[in-house]
Amino acid sequence: MAESLLVNLNERSYEIRFGQQLNDEIQAKVGELRAAGHPVAVLCDRNVAQTQTASLSAMFGDAPKCIVAAGEGTKSLAGLGEVLEFLAVNRVDRGGVLFAVGGGVIGDLGGFAAASYLRGIAFYQVPTTLLAMVDSSVGGKTGINLAAGKNLAGAFHQPRGVYIATELLRTLPPREFAAGMAEVIKYGLLAEAPLFARLERGPLTVASDDLATVIRRCCAIKARIVEADERELAKEGGRALLNLGHTFGHAIEQAAGYGHYLHGEAIAIGLVAAAQLSHRLGLIPESAIGRIEKVLAAHALPVRLSAPLPLAVLMAAMARDKKVRAGLPRFVVMERIGEAVTRDGVPAALAEECFRLIGAV
Ligand code: NAD
Ligand code: GLY
Repeated sequence: MAESLLVNLNERSYEIRFGQQLNDEIQAKVGELRAAGHPVAVLCDRNVAQTQTASLSAMFGDAPKCIVAAGEGTKSLAGLGEVLEFLAVNRVDRGGVLFAVGGGVIGDLGGFAAASYLRGIAFYQVPTTLLAMVDSSVGGKTGINLAAGKNLAGAFHQPRGVYIATELLRTLPPREFAAGMAEVIKYGLLAEAPLFARLERGPLTVASDDLATVIRRCCAIKARIVEADERELAKEGGRALLNLGHTFGHAIEQAAGYGHYLHGEAIAIGLVAAAQLSHRLGLIPESAIGRIEKVLAAHALPVRLSAPLPLAVLMAAMARDKKVRAGLPRFVVMERIGEAVTRDGVPAALAEECFRLIGAV
């Protein structure tokens, strides 16, 4: 039976529905929307269209589908243009509803298209990757990358609902599942020591009995954080805590060139750099870094750069991060495993040292 979790954002509140399979429930929602005169459109990528053909057909029937190329390259101005033109050609009006069915790329792109088309239409998230189930489908951050950097154009636009059906993960390639685990591990590190302890006991896999419980736990942590600081405006802590490992990770992703590392792989290496920084600031013992690396490696994630990247390129990429204010990045560090804080004023030399420790030259 499906379970649900409310993301309480006053008039923007919505439910996350959890189940092994939610085709019938989504089909009923689509039918209800159409019967009430709301045109329904679907966005997915080619991989999802090919591997989830039967589910897509069961969920959406003959609703128009925009099928875009898979991969981070689609989260671009060109990709956005493609989706907006599709919505216009299919005469989706202001009452229209877009279902974004896919990983974080499709959720971010579809959400931003929904935020900007006709100055904003409704959208639902149907995540199909582990990363999207535990992170990107919840919280309303949408956007695309620009040549100058990651997620540089976007909008806060909350979905009207999120449907998390774990059955959809059966076709996900193992490397993509592992990439999603980086965000799961991140939640344990920033907010829930028992979750990290669970992952230390043995790897979570697509066949684990507690997979759905862990996904739900991650969504609950994210919902709590987003409810308290929806637009990431807190002076300290708040939603920025979800960026543990991301200040380093986004720089790695950009410096290596999008496509070299999966997003989650770059975040895994970024988590090690954040652990090194936390240790060097006197917050966590050296042994904690070893524990974190062990859990990442047990989930088939990298803990060092696979090929050295120049320090200067990494530092320049970090300075372009959109979270930089007055030229200074704000880091998220761990005070202990299970508790993170934001830290301003970290000397550049210390950030460089952490990059060197993960293989920068
Ligand atoms: P993705 O969307 O590119 O999906 C990964 C790959 O898996 C793609 O090739 C896709 O075609 C394929 N795929 C997806 N579902 C599948 C399935 N069920 N079966 C077979 N193949 C499947 O990448 P991702 O890792 O899901 O998301 C990464 C993106 O998410 C990045 O752009 C990142 O910036 C963004 N993100 C956003 C937020 C947010 O809060 N908005 C949070 C974290 C990450
Ligand atoms: N993934 C970071 C956030 O949603 O704020």
